[in-house]
Amino acid sequence: MSEPRLLVTRRWPTEVERHLQANYDVKLNADDRPLTVAELQEAFRTCDAVLPTVSDRITAEVMAAEPLKARLIGNFGVGFNHIDIAAAKARGLTVTNTPDVLTDCTADLAMTLLLTAARRAGEGERHLRAGEWTGWRPTHMMGTKVTDKTLGLVGFGRIGKAVARRAHFGFGMRILYYDAFPPDPEAVAAVGAEACSSVEEVLERADFVSLHCPGSAENRHLINAERLSLMRPHAFLINTARGDVVDEAALVAALKAGTIAGAGLDVYEFEPTVSPELARLENVVLLPHLGSATKETRVAMGMRVVENVRAFFAGEPPPDRVA
Ligand code: DGY
Repeated sequence: MSEPRLLVTRRWPTEVERHLQANYDVKLNADDRPLTVAELQEAFRTCDAVLPTVSDRITAEVMAAEPLKARLIGNFGVGFNHIDIAAAKARGLTVTNTPDVLTDCTADLAMTLLLTAARRAGEGERHLRAGEWTGWRPTHMMGTKVTDKTLGLVGFGRIGKAVARRAHFGFGMRILYYDAFPPDPEAVAAVGAEACSSVEEVLERADFVSLHCPGSAENRHLINAERLSLMRPHAFLINTARGDVVDEAALVAALKAGTIAGAGLDVYEFEPTVSPELARLENVVLLPHLGSATKETRVAMGMRVVENVRAFFAGEPPPDRVA
């Protein structure tokens, strides 16, 4: 039997690409250019597996390619809201993702945003680089203390729990959470977390709110104008989940009006486009979707896809099958 033919939609870490080249008939994307709908359709027509990532939209239209050759979508990433799962199932495609390996780095980045927003670190760095710093003074660039404050988590899954551990053990924070699916009691007890009965309760009680729910049709604009208005005026919103969980226009309005103190964002509603108004505000920290962006994690994500591909073509259940 000939080697399975794979298409990798974007550049992956070199060692992972080499591994794929050594074991498969693989088409890489050396230019790292986003593929068009027609190019993705061609991949579904000519390859046994398509290996996309969060910046590719794997829609019903893409998977409607005929004749369909692909049998596997091996996603590079844990979130798969960019893949139309119902359409994939209807086309008989297996879908896998890469959980676990990016939990720590994404949690680290949520804390980076929280601290950077609270302590005005981005603003301070811009101030210094612009040559505006005139020296230490008691009232200069006062931020918000993090230690001992209350962190509210919307979603208490793998990444939410990892953020809770960092915040609780590193910064003595009290942890509140809301999760529609009851988490395991041991993880809750480990950080002394308190369950809230609704997202609203988290928003009303927390000094910092961090979002760790999946991107989905149900969670689109979960944080809208009405819910933002429940947040305390000194509170900060942190989003490392998915951009469309937050109504970006409503967030801009809240930040401008000062009804919340600030925000830290790694993801955007219309990624990679970022609202120009956000970019003009000083009370928001903006990062370009860096949650999992460490060498260690990106290699581990790639190797996780490799294992899913290996298992699938060996006729074994892929370990990270989501559909
Ligand atoms: C994921 O894995 O879903 C991330 O957002 C990509 O880093």
